[in-house]
Amino acid sequence: MTELLKINGDMFEKFISEEQIRGRIKELAARINADYSGRIPIFIGVLNGAFIFLSDLIREISIDCEIDFFKLSSYGDAKISSGQVKLLKDLDCQVSGRDIIVVEDIVDSGLSIAFTKKIIEKENPKSLKFVSLLLKKGIPKIDFTIDYIGFEIPRDFVIGYGLDYAQKVRNLKSIYRITPHGTARPE
Ligand code: IMP
Ligand code: MG
Repeated sequence: MTELLKINGDMFEKFISEEQIRGRIKELAARINADYSGRIPIFIGVLNGAFIFLSDLIREISIDCEIDFFKLSSYGDAKISSGQVKLLKDLDCQVSGRDIIVVEDIVDSGLSIAFTKKIIEKENPKSLKFVSLLLKKGIPKIDFTIDYIGFEIPRDFVIGYGLDYAQKVRNLKSIYRITPHGTARPE
């Protein structure tokens, strides 16, 4: 039976298990290890959502690498994007001349990742690629490709494994998605 969770009055069902996430991360890391062999990329995690994904991904990376973080404004407490992105914490690392890999938890509208791309490109990296654990299907507002994608998912609100609902439930080990209409249903 599907595992259900009730959060803030909405019902969520288990969608991507810990085991599925772990397996997919190993596959993504294997590709990155091969693609960046002999180089020393800087992984840039986009806070807050990407912190768990980045920490699991990085432990599957076997080449030399560095890490930095970047913080953007979030959805606040809502389930849909405000459509505005603000920089809350800038990078500390020197981007110029380096191979940069931006690590995102999820690309929804694409606004955040497009904003991130603009900021990093200004600093003249040697190369710039993107990895996102999740990509919501549809028409993200981006005119470039996400190089490494964990899972393509429907346009439903999802939580857990770093993704929050009003700042909570980031600590769930699996990813859960809101059930149709978000309403409670018989178990
Ligand atoms: P954007 O719409 O692509 O700009 O998404 C921006 C950010 O919103 C993502 O990096 C996530 O941190 C957050 N986000 C997008 N979709 C969801 C979701 O379904 N659940 C929780 N957070 C989300
Ligand atoms: Mg994010």
